[in-house]
Amino acid sequence: MIRSVVRGFGSALPQRVVTNKEMESLVETSDDWIVQRTGIRQRYIAGEGETTASLGEAAARDALQRAGLTPDDIDLVIVATSTPDNTFPATAVNIQNRLGMTKGYAFDVQAVCTGFVYAMATADAHLRAGMAKRALVIGAETFSRILDWTDRTTCVLFGDGAGALVLEAQQQEGKVSDRGVLTSHLRSDGSHKEKLYVDGGPSTTGTVGHLRMEGREVFKHAVGMITDVIVAAFEATGTTAEDLNWLVPHQANRRIIDGSAKKLGIPLEKVVVTVDLHGNTSAASIPLALSVAASDGRIKQGDLVMLEAMGGGFTWGALLVRW
Ligand code: ACO
Repeated sequence: MIRSVVRGFGSALPQRVVTNKEMESLVETSDDWIVQRTGIRQRYIAGEGETTASLGEAAARDALQRAGLTPDDIDLVIVATSTPDNTFPATAVNIQNRLGMTKGYAFDVQAVCTGFVYAMATADAHLRAGMAKRALVIGAETFSRILDWTDRTTCVLFGDGAGALVLEAQQQEGKVSDRGVLTSHLRSDGSHKEKLYVDGGPSTTGTVGHLRMEGREVFKHAVGMITDVIVAAFEATGTTAEDLNWLVPHQANRRIIDGSAKKLGIPLEKVVVTVDLHGNTSAASIPLALSVAASDGRIKQGDLVMLEAMGGGFTWGALLVRW
């Protein structure tokens, strides 16, 4: 059977780092409060000329280089983002053009913080259906541009960045020991819209709007939703927490990450945490974390890696991949 195998990974961050100390000069907050409640110590904020597409392009080029491929080898680009450069065309098409690609197809996926899991599942389905041979799956965000910088309950939490994977369709035996995406489980429930949303849009206010979140409400649902899809991924593949080499969660909050791992019996040594470095970069957080852990040698070929996320919508999902 066809499996979507990871050929390369890459990432890109804005030049400017903003520490919690610097946040103290913007809103009534403290390094202590931010670290204790979230685990975040710093975030990267896009400057002039740095956009979702420029960061996504840089991450894509990094991933292609590691894969030993060129843009001509790619025939599908999927970008997970909630902060596109334009309302349309899709940021994926923008990146396709920036890369100089003249073939294939490109589109965006919008599932907020779960966007990268949705994009990976979508790319996997396209590759397995024979619609494409190699896909660039990119998570790219500039959440700094939709934050209300006077609202301390949200502006301290988010950051900007991009990460990318190259997936390639390869014939495998159909076993759990195969390399590639083994299973994916996506969920959504729109009845939670008011707990986490942006208060603007082309069809309502005609403006971009700002992020609004009832943090405590989101927190209340997060662990249960995350564990539900991870258990589904284990059951679908006949694997358990013990078989897992790495859990790479969406990086929203250290307490949510630790709580989910504990509930699933996954030791914290097997959990990749980068929320301290990047803050919550929404759809970019998983591929950024993957890039950190794969480049420092923690994630190795053959490792069993669980990706999971929960975010606005609500949306949530998990995807199990043999690296
Ligand atoms: N600095 C200092 N104090 C603050 C700050 C701040 N930045 N923000 C809020 N406070 C205060 C509040 O005003 C409140 O004060 P009060 O008790 O006098 O009213 C107090 O801190 C506690 O506030 P809570 O909201 O109860 O704090 P909580 O422990 O819930 O932590 C947080 C807040 C970090 C937002 C947490 O609820 C959380 O992480 N929620 C989940 C967010 C998340 O995971 N989102 C993921 C999806 S993101 C996406 O999809 C885009």
